[in-house]
Amino acid sequence: MEVLIVGGTGFIGQALQKALDLSGIAYKILSRRPSKANHIFWDPTKKQLDTSTLGSITHIINLAGAGIAEKRWTKERKKELINSRVDATQFLYNECSKHCPSLEGYIGISGVNAFGFDDSLSYNETHPFATDFLSGLVKQWEEAHRLFDKLPSFSIFRLGMVLSSQGGAYRKIAAPMKFYMGAVPGSGKQLVPWIHLDDVVGFIMYVLKSTPVGLIHVVSNNSSMKELTQAIALKERSKIILPNIPSFMIRLIFGEMGMLLTESLRIDHTKLTQTAYKTRFNQLSDLIYEKEN
Ligand SMILES: NC(=O)c1ccc[n+]([C@@H]2O[C@H](COP(=O)([O-])OP(=O)(O)OC[C@H]3O[C@@H](n4cnc5c(N)ncnc54)[C@H](OP(=O)(O)O)[C@@H]3O)[C@@H](O)[C@H]2O)c1
Repeated sequence: MEVLIVGGTGFIGQALQKALDLSGIAYKILSRRPSKANHIFWDPTKKQLDTSTLGSITHIINLAGAGIAEKRWTKERKKELINSRVDATQFLYNECSKHCPSLEGYIGISGVNAFGFDDSLSYNETHPFATDFLSGLVKQWEEAHRLFDKLPSFSIFRLGMVLSSQGGAYRKIAAPMKFYMGAVPGSGKQLVPWIHLDDVVGFIMYVLKSTPVGLIHVVSNNSSMKELTQAIALKERSKIILPNIPSFMIRLIFGEMGMLLTESLRIDHTKLTQTAYKTRFNQLSDLIYEKEN
């Protein structure tokens, strides 16, 4: 087995590299800024990719994409969010069909923000896409992943918010707490589907070594934004009062992207619970034990 992690230099990719190292599985990283011996250069916008060492790749894990919550969703930024996932994956497929003769497995990463926001429903994998920007992005992203669906092993993981004190959304929420500041976005009652980073990596390793799972919601639990913020404050040992920031202010500050903080989403993860993989972090209180695990 030799794995190619596309976009493997980021938050999830770095944790996955550690797990592959521990398992003794060889891997290479496809990056726009290669800096190590096992990095391969690509620039999907310019349709450039160094194909010289792709011949031995047996599995691809595709994590690439410009950060959804990094910048305001201007017209230009929306294009970048789409192109860095959809066009990049199509380009990857075209190159791999010519240069990856040993390829047998593919895991495409996607997200759970695809159904609109009616939290009286619990959205499972068969629920249709909504029509807002993010749902449309997820739809196109998954269509691009499906170019690889003739491989013997093909899966798409729809991730909830990936939690870990090492980075991602957790660090953004925790950052002001260092200065005894912090707040709960919106009413705090809105639900956030989440999964711990260790479980994302654990489940990728499980699927790599066993059977494909197809399209699957990779979520451990749906917790309220207030519970999430409080759990992070507790872990950071930050004894602060967390005021609510009204939703309209979040929209003023973040524009359309603010929906990620204010809207409520309930995700059905029954399919994940029916696999042999058992998630280790199932309650926010489990975050407290993160370091000891
Ligand atoms: N973290 C979460 O909570 C979460 C939740 C749901 C879904 N996801 C999805 O899971 C994937 C991985 O998440 P992550 O948190 O590890 O993200 P990340 O830390 O931002 O890493 C993503 C990687 O994608 C590559 N990338 C960034 N901009 C790109 C562009 N314009 N064109 C091509 N490649 C680009 C980068 O690699 P190079 O700079 O080396 O090229 C980067 O290391 C992302 O697609 C993300 O949307 C994440």
